Amino acid sequence: MTEAKIEALLKDKIGLAANTIGSYKIAKAVEKRKLACNFPDSQTYLQRLQISKDELEELIELVVIPETWFFRDRKPFTFLEHYIRSEWWTNRNNNVLRLLSIPCSSGEEPYSIAMLLLNSGLTPDKFRIDAVDISKKALLRATNAVYNKNSFRGEDMPERERYFQQTADGYELSKFVRNTVNFIHGNLLEPFFLANKKYNIVFCRNLLIYFDSSTCSQAIDILERILTPKGLLFVGSAETGRIPTNRFVSVRYPFSFAYQKVADQATDVVVDITDKFSVIKEVSPKTDNIPSISTTQIPNLQILRKLADEGRLDEAASWCKTYLDQQPTSAQAYLLLGEVYQAKGDNEQAEQCYQKAIYLEPNYYEALIHLTLLKEHRGDRVGAAVLHQRIQRLNKNQDN
Ligand SMILES: C[S@@+](CC[C@H](N)C(=O)[O-])C[C@H]1O[C@@H](n2cnc3c(N)ncnc32)[C@H](O)[C@@H]1O
Repeated sequence: MTEAKIEALLKDKIGLAANTIGSYKIAKAVEKRKLACNFPDSQTYLQRLQISKDELEELIELVVIPETWFFRDRKPFTFLEHYIRSEWWTNRNNNVLRLLSIPCSSGEEPYSIAMLLLNSGLTPDKFRIDAVDISKKALLRATNAVYNKNSFRGEDMPERERYFQQTADGYELSKFVRNTVNFIHGNLLEPFFLANKKYNIVFCRNLLIYFDSSTCSQAIDILERILTPKGLLFVGSAETGRIPTNRFVSVRYPFSFAYQKVADQATDVVVDITDKFSVIKEVSPKTDNIPSISTTQIPNLQILRKLADEGRLDEAASWCKTYLDQQPTSAQAYLLLGEVYQAKGDNEQAEQCYQKAIYLEPNYYEALIHLTLLKEHRGDRVGAAVLHQRIQRLNKNQDN
């Protein structure tokens, strides 16, 4: 009886449906807390739970499942990258892209998004990531940003080389990436949750699976409210059946589990990206969408970037050098060559290229950012701090 009341309280407060994790898990957590509080029986513990916010938080910490890792499922992130490069860059270049990761757990998901946006060429002033979770312990791990191998699962993750530094405690994420995520303690089901916020993209993955259908509808109403009309919603692979198809249209990109919000007002103009992405195929090293390059004519930087994006790094590097022979003062070409070297794992050459780019264009934002990250990565904290100040001054000047 008391156990059922505790389960009902948890459902009411955080949406957790006991059958999704098993009543035994909740019972075990209650036992643990009763012992910690020195309460002999469940009834006294329930009374405490009903009046003490702190105790409720303690119990919540024991029943939530914080399981997460970097670039979980990969495909949603691949799709996001396509979206940024093909849609966002083309149509909204000057707007700030607003993203939310809820629940963010210990930070792997929002940091993955941040690394992806940086990889896609967005500078930190062009995006804002809010990341919310109900677990304060998970948020503490997120702000600490030191991870062990559990957070890096599955395939190789090139971002680990690029954005992390190995320390005695684990892999420490670069400050530069950390600073792009704003962590918030919160509950998706709170009535006025993020009341004044709107997001272009919301990641809400692996939370709806813990809700029953009525809580799920409540959550979807909230997600719909905080999304902009053209907004994208990413859910977990097991949650797609819970998204109402009259309000969200599935983006036909295999295994992205992404949806586009349907317009909610007559005046909303929605760019339908669902068809556009149905034709996107996996990025393969040999594709035919790059015009063939004649050996006598040097391709422009846009084509060279495409070559690099498609993984044809040696070709891209070789053409960049030829380009630089003709245009030795092109900071953009040095930036691209630096990125290509970095993708090939040659950080030393990459650093030299970024240095040259900055020499040619002292306020070259992207080059400054890449160089800062590389310096941080190889432990040159002083060098990185100097560059960081320079970037901040640039940001300030832009704001004024
Ligand atoms: C399995 S993790 C998902 C993390 C990440 N989205 C992913 O897919 O890898 C579930 C997280 O949901 C959080 N959570 C549970 N109920 C919540 C609620 N009502 N509001 C916000 N976060 C909640 C938990 O604290 C836990 O960290």
